[in-house]
Amino acid sequence: MLVSAREMLEKARDGKYAVGQFNINNLEWTKSILLTAQELQSPVILGVSEGAGKYMTGFKTVAAMVEAMIDELNITVPVALHLDHGSYEGCYKCIKAGFSSIMFDGSHYPIAENIEKTKELVKIAHAMGLSLEAEVGSIGGEEDGVVGMGECADPAECKAIADLGIDFLAAGIGNIHGKYPENWQGLNFDVLANVKEAVGGMPLVLHGGTGIPEDMIKKAISLGVAKINVNTECQLSFAEATRKYIEDGKDLQGKGFDPRKLLAPGADAIRATVKEKMELFGSVGKANA
Ligand code: 13P
Repeated sequence: MLVSAREMLEKARDGKYAVGQFNINNLEWTKSILLTAQELQSPVILGVSEGAGKYMTGFKTVAAMVEAMIDELNITVPVALHLDHGSYEGCYKCIKAGFSSIMFDGSHYPIAENIEKTKELVKIAHAMGLSLEAEVGSIGGEEDGVVGMGECADPAECKAIADLGIDFLAAGIGNIHGKYPENWQGLNFDVLANVKEAVGGMPLVLHGGTGIPEDMIKKAISLGVAKINVNTECQLSFAEATRKYIEDGKDLQGKGFDPRKLLAPGADAIRATVKEKMELFGSVGKANA
């Protein structure tokens, strides 16, 4: 059964670890992430961007696939199915489709409009038992056509959004989606500390988890980050393993062209990446914490 992400993130905040949000793209992705979470007894959040939802033919397909997979694979760890960077309309679609958590990304609206829309969606999400993530200060880089310049969040705006009763908050602290450029300045821990002070116990979310050095991840967790999003890194691992399989000519040997064989090294590579991240984030063994 899917669960809201609220409780798992409150436990993570109290236990000083973070739960990973791993974005899914298809069946192999979903299966690899769920099996790794179960093996490591870690709570997990499956992230679905609007683009990935569309690719998988719609949010209803995604919710049905994830629910059925949890059942068929006997997954017993807490799993949340979460809309990533949702539009106003996308949030409504996911609530209807059976997601257990949504992110409303109103960071590109003027703050008053972000507050107004977030307030409305919190009310509906909570009435339906879903958790809601809001965003202040856009995340840099590009994800599925959503482009952010990477502004650092204003702590006063974070407090205004947190006071709406949201469940967790994504606040820009110099993080960006995708690979970090050579000249990246690193996470801004002063901003993170100021945001934390402004929002009190609200669990914080770190987007752009790909490529952030381990020491920065650990420091961010110590300063109140309880959810870390990873997308690109699984894509890179999948692509690298698949390229190797093809370059080694394995698809030309015997029945190596069978998609179950062709996609297996990529799926294993996703499992290895997810395992590495869960160990780094400290969520291993926390399924029943
Ligand atoms: P990366 O693709 O940089 O890992 O970011 C993922 C993310 O923040 C999803 O919202």
